[in-house]
Amino acid sequence: MTQTLKNLAKKLPQPLPEILNAIFNFLLKLKIIILEKIPFTNEQKKKYWLTHIYQEHNFSARERIFLSIARFCHVNRPIEGYYFEFGCHGGNTMKMAYNHFRFLFNWDYVAFDSFEGLPEIQEIDKQEIWKKSKLKTDENEFRSMMIKHGIPPEKLILVKGFYDESLDEKLKNKLLPKKAAAIYIDCDLYTSTVPVLEFIKDFLQKGTIIVFDDWNCFHADPEKGERRAFKEFREKYPTLQFEEFISTHEAKSFVFLGELNK
Ligand SMILES: C[S@@+](CC[C@H](N)C(=O)[O-])C[C@H]1O[C@@H](n2cnc3c(N)ncnc32)[C@H](O)[C@@H]1O
Repeated sequence: MTQTLKNLAKKLPQPLPEILNAIFNFLLKLKIIILEKIPFTNEQKKKYWLTHIYQEHNFSARERIFLSIARFCHVNRPIEGYYFEFGCHGGNTMKMAYNHFRFLFNWDYVAFDSFEGLPEIQEIDKQEIWKKSKLKTDENEFRSMMIKHGIPPEKLILVKGFYDESLDEKLKNKLLPKKAAAIYIDCDLYTSTVPVLEFIKDFLQKGTIIVFDDWNCFHADPEKGERRAFKEFREKYPTLQFEEFISTHEAKSFVFLGELNK
């Protein structure tokens, strides 16, 4: 949010951007002063810090990713097709995607999720925070949240099911020949990411961006999570060429360049 306001402020005539920037910086200092000086209890301080500093930091890092994709796809236009999202839960990333893509591109928004929360956690994905059925949002609830947010119903496709079953040839043929412009992978686990990558392979086109939201989960261990799934995918299909794109403290993304010898 802060980043968006700062970007908007930059468009104003001088000296307004400088004045507004000074106000933003002052507000940030003020938040820290409030935290230090007001006699909150420790629990209240924690709540305040989580809402006003910690979550805002995560939010603006994610927002940078979506704005960077918008910029990339705009400069390299036309990049047409789908916005695919694997792992949709509360709809934060789907809403952010729509906020930043709707004005430039006529993409369709496809939400792939079990809408039952996480699957059974396999040995390789065991970590304290992951539990079966955690992060569940009901399919109808998700749809109405997205429509309420403004995504036109005819531009929204929901694919319900656990990926090892739902991402089959029938679905692929239904969605093809249209390709993907941007793919957001936020399903946390190695075992969930493997079928996702196998599925998206046929939707890649020159310039498709793939974002791994959970790149640094599992202590950023390359033998775990989304990192491992992508490493194995690249080993399995060595002719597919990728270039690194934007990364944040949590996520990493790549641009698909094309296939060697094609
Ligand atoms: C961290 S949440 C996604 C958060 C979401 N992007 C947001 O902004 O609110 C992870 C999601 O991945 C889904 N998920 C994980 N593994 C899955 C699988 N194998 N099949 C289907 N859905 C899966 C869960 O149901 C959950 O909704």
